[in-house]
Amino acid sequence: MQSLVLAGGKGIRLRPITLHTPKPIVPIANMPLLLYQLELLRRGGVRDVVLSLSYQPQKIEDRIGDGSRSKVRISYAVETSPLGTAGAFKNAAHLISETAVVLNGDILTDVDLDAVIQYHKERQAAATIVLAPVPNPAGYGLVVTDPEGRVTRFIEKPKPEEVTCDTINAGIYILEPKLLDYVPEGEPFTFEYGLFPRLLELGERVMGFVWRGYWRDVGTPESYLQANLDVIAGRVSLLEAPNWMRPDTFDEKAEIDSLSLVDPSCTLKAGVQIVNSVVSRNCYIEDRARIENSLVRTGSRIGTAASVSNTVIGKGCHVGKSVIIGRGAVLGDKTVVTDYSRL
Ligand code: GDD
Ligand code: MG
Repeated sequence: MQSLVLAGGKGIRLRPITLHTPKPIVPIANMPLLLYQLELLRRGGVRDVVLSLSYQPQKIEDRIGDGSRSKVRISYAVETSPLGTAGAFKNAAHLISETAVVLNGDILTDVDLDAVIQYHKERQAAATIVLAPVPNPAGYGLVVTDPEGRVTRFIEKPKPEEVTCDTINAGIYILEPKLLDYVPEGEPFTFEYGLFPRLLELGERVMGFVWRGYWRDVGTPESYLQANLDVIAGRVSLLEAPNWMRPDTFDEKAEIDSLSLVDPSCTLKAGVQIVNSVVSRNCYIEDRARIENSLVRTGSRIGTAASVSNTVIGKGCHVGKSVIIGRGAVLGDKTVVTDYSRL
């Protein structure tokens, strides 16, 4: 089984996190998002993965390499300008010769791919789309099915009055290679507005497979922070987050709750409290600082008695003494917050 991971989007909604880190390799609990996807694919029996890139491709190639760490073989299909989701599929046509698992590169899920592939084969579908039930489908692609699970309608980014069911396109597809023939060459084309509605018009068999387990689009800062917290809470049965350790640089009077993940390279001073948070490599947390429900990325410094809650702190930030910051704040890389500021 082959796979194509669509990892070429610009990650605009995830700015400023994606300004210097392309979305597919933003860290979730200290590991690039793509590594979770590669593990999902490996478990589903996929051995060959094509990464479809467009935005900051070199950074992704440098981080992921040939995939040997993830026990899959990786090849790259890089677009000179973005071709859209289906255009990216066409652009990789020379690398695709069999039924393929196609994944949006910004989702975190532990979907049972074996079950999806079996469902696809049993129903002899041309395409099977994994569907996730969500409370508010408006920001996604709504997918309507008949009682047998056959897709009858797609409404991408529906208006509130168009929402008639709660199942959305989860960005996971099993596609037969013959579908490549329906995608125009060298021009932008999407699955969501182009290929999928076209398949329905042509009477092709498109099935929906509902997944009620863990699923999340990591496309916004709120969702990105929540994905980190979900992994450390063990809600995603995919990769085990590495256990934090207590090296010498953690003052014995620093407190870290059992959910938090603090990289061993960090320095934590006396009275520090880390609650339900991820603190990445080489951070320096000064006396009595408190970090709760937050993500602190590599090389940041949090000042004495600062309070950080429900916040994403980018790489190399400096949060000053007694700063209070919370309620969904997102600091871009290298932000300096002066002493006593309140955000
Ligand atoms: N190679 C390549 N080229 N990849 C692309 C391109 C492109 O031109 N455009 C987007 N992608 C990748 C993105 O990197 C992302 O991984 C994936 O395709 C989906 O793009 P998003 O921009 O994240 O789309 P969305 O979140 O608004 O909506 C999509 O995902 C939802 C589920 O998360 C749609 O597929 C919706 O129907 C779906 O519900
Ligand atoms: Mg998305």
